[in-house]
Amino acid sequence: MTDLAIHGGSPVRSEPWPRWPQWGEAEAQRVQEVLESGVWGGFNPAVKEFEAVFAKRHQAKHCITAVNGTLTLEAALRVMGVGPGDEVIVPPYTFIATANAVRLVGATPVFVDIEPDTYNLDIDCMAAAIGPKTRAVIPVHFAGLPVDMDRLLPLAEQHGLAVIEDAAHAHGSTWKGTPMGTLGHIGSFSLQASKNLTAGEGGILITNDDELAAKLWSFANQGRSPEGAWYEHGMLGSNLRMTGWQAGLLLAQMEHFDEQLARRQASARRLIAILEEIDGPAPMRWDARADSHAHHLFMMRYDPERFGGVSRERFVEALRAEGVPCSTGYAVPLYHQPPLAEPYSRVEPCPVSEQACREAIWLTQNLLLAEPEAMDDIAQAMLKIREHVDELR
Ligand SMILES: Cc1ncc(COP(=O)(O)O)c(C=O)c1O
Repeated sequence: MTDLAIHGGSPVRSEPWPRWPQWGEAEAQRVQEVLESGVWGGFNPAVKEFEAVFAKRHQAKHCITAVNGTLTLEAALRVMGVGPGDEVIVPPYTFIATANAVRLVGATPVFVDIEPDTYNLDIDCMAAAIGPKTRAVIPVHFAGLPVDMDRLLPLAEQHGLAVIEDAAHAHGSTWKGTPMGTLGHIGSFSLQASKNLTAGEGGILITNDDELAAKLWSFANQGRSPEGAWYEHGMLGSNLRMTGWQAGLLLAQMEHFDEQLARRQASARRLIAILEEIDGPAPMRWDARADSHAHHLFMMRYDPERFGGVSRERFVEALRAEGVPCSTGYAVPLYHQPPLAEPYSRVEPCPVSEQACREAIWLTQNLLLAEPEAMDDIAQAMLKIREHVDELR
């Protein structure tokens, strides 16, 4: 029995994992084109071209690009008229941007618990939290797994809530065939460096509503209108424009988008089957209605009982040493972060979110781009750790 890598043995996997982002000649050429055009900002034609490609791929009528996926959420809230005195329902198990955007428009985040087997907003908890001040909900399709939109949408409609989908992890995910971002009023995406589609930074808004699209475009362009004069500003706005560099890169990245999406899903399926076989950490429930799942992260729930009482932190340390990069994710639910704690927010009971912070293990999407057999390495590393639990406790 070879030693654990953490104790000086050789690791199960020493080959590198796929790098992220990935690029080639197409990216270099696009960037060169932007350079030579001399139009480096948001009016480079590549921006409109990318918006058209992304909109088509996500079956959206309108696509407005932006500088990042935090300001897109803020813009969406603003154009939906959410502001001081309003409450917005958000999960506490998400990146801080989701809830920060709510505070940044002067509204109050209401933290509502998640489901134990998907880590997505629990719709029963959402129903219980809706009050007279509730104006909107931001469902986060966490890790790329769509929220149960069959239950969320009618509930939101019944209470007149704006639905802003935080699809920062969900490029290419679908719910019963419909791409995420178009089921609610507005969908928001991030193109930050770790995301499944990236330009280093960047954001996207999509919608099927003409009026909202016009407002979003205007807000992102200092309150102008597409037909108006340059110094004519009909509404309060800002500058959220993406640059030509980003759009050029993204156009090249889109060429690999579907192939990468398919590869991640195939790897995820294989890994789910293997984890079950070895009684490893439990993967999240992949609802059959989520017929495409971006797998921005591959999420697992760690139960020390299955590994002889070894703590999650020791397990992750050992797994990393065996050549499987992984992390424990968020340390605490968002309402423990000072700018989002009460009285800046309203906090509903969130025991599942607390538990998620104690039990989750995350693998990042680039691991799923590896050769299929690499998933077996992950299982081998876990089995090796199980053989050595006595040394880890
Ligand atoms: C769920 C979620 N929402 C919003 C964001 C914010 O996106 P950005 O970093 O592009 O501002 C991120 C990630 O960065 C995220 O993970």
